[in-house]
Amino acid sequence: MLTEDDIKNALKAVRYPGYSRDIVSFGLVKQVAIKDGAVSVSMNVTSANPEAIRQIKAESEQAIKALPGVSVAYVDVQHPSAPAPASPQNVWAQQNRVPGIRRIVAVASGKGGVGKSTVSVNLACGLQHLGARVGLLDCDIYGPSIPLMMGMNQKPTINDSEKMVPPSNYGVKLMSMGFLVEGDQPIIWRGPMIMKTIQQFFSAVEWGELDVLLVDLPPGTGDAQLSLCQTVPLDGGVIVTTPQEASLGVVRKGIAMFQKVNVPILGIVENMSYYTTPSGDRVEIFGHGGGQAEAARQKVAFLGEVPLFTEVREGGDRGVPVVVSAPEHAAGQVFLKVAEELRRNLL
Ligand SMILES: Nc1ncnc2c1ncn2[C@@H]1O[C@H](COP(=O)(O)OP(=O)(O)OP(=O)(O)O)[C@@H](O)[C@H]1O
Ligand SMILES: [Mg+2]
Repeated sequence: MLTEDDIKNALKAVRYPGYSRDIVSFGLVKQVAIKDGAVSVSMNVTSANPEAIRQIKAESEQAIKALPGVSVAYVDVQHPSAPAPASPQNVWAQQNRVPGIRRIVAVASGKGGVGKSTVSVNLACGLQHLGARVGLLDCDIYGPSIPLMMGMNQKPTINDSEKMVPPSNYGVKLMSMGFLVEGDQPIIWRGPMIMKTIQQFFSAVEWGELDVLLVDLPPGTGDAQLSLCQTVPLDGGVIVTTPQEASLGVVRKGIAMFQKVNVPILGIVENMSYYTTPSGDRVEIFGHGGGQAEAARQKVAFLGEVPLFTEVREGGDRGVPVVVSAPEHAAGQVFLKVAEELRRNLL
């Protein structure tokens, strides 16, 4: 006579896919029923990986059928159904809000070198200028440039509760990937390490009370950026583009990336829109208006256009953003206008 123990013993030969342990010791087997050589087993798994489930079912049925006296084997693997896609109202369903931080906004760009970090820094200082409590998180794993642009060379300190306290300058608190590596060492990080570090930027950093935390994402809209967007509980995304890039449709990729993770798009900033010569002539080096046209096509807000100004580049190199050194300058004014628009929509 077959017993429940016979079945369980046979199932101990089945390993959980990817592990050396067997499915019985993992506690998967919930119920065994035996009648006239027909065996039915029900199991529960917590992971919903369809391939693992298929494999567990097939191997278990095979192991049971191999027992003498078994004519039919049926294994039912119960698994939690895939979570329902988050609707725009419950984007927080699968993410943890960060206590003390009211809004988290990512700044992204379709490709590198369009001035994303420059915009992040000036928007952070601009929002601070307007009275908001602001943090800035530099997630650029390839080349964290924000500490330089913010004129910061001190690293975070550790407080009594063993949390990192972000250094601040111009009233903006900053954490950067750049704080975690030595000097010019190139960063060769694997995906899981990056994700873990980003998570620690929330769990292990004493941000205090912030109205808004701006996140400078790495350039591009690939898998790395997408999983960062999933790791960070974002309230909204801003896309920085040059006119030329916008007209080439790169902005659409940025929009698609935010949409995939249900992050509302706050709008597009067109950077390097045009250049005004000392004699007052306007030169549209990368074309002009691509950002606005694409924003209209994609039905997202257009937040503003930032011309090419020597002062903007110098501010970045000196570590004093133009919004701080010359808020009344035309460049400072443009960034402040965008910051105001963000504040109106967010805070
Ligand atoms: N509006 C502007 N006027 C003048 N210079 C600018 C402007 N925007 C950006 N720059 C300059 O262009 C260079 C690239 O800008 P930035 O580093 O902000 O780009 P990025 O998109 O963050 O680049 P990466 O992809 O490398 O992170 C910097 O030297 C910056 O000072
Ligand atoms: Mg950058």
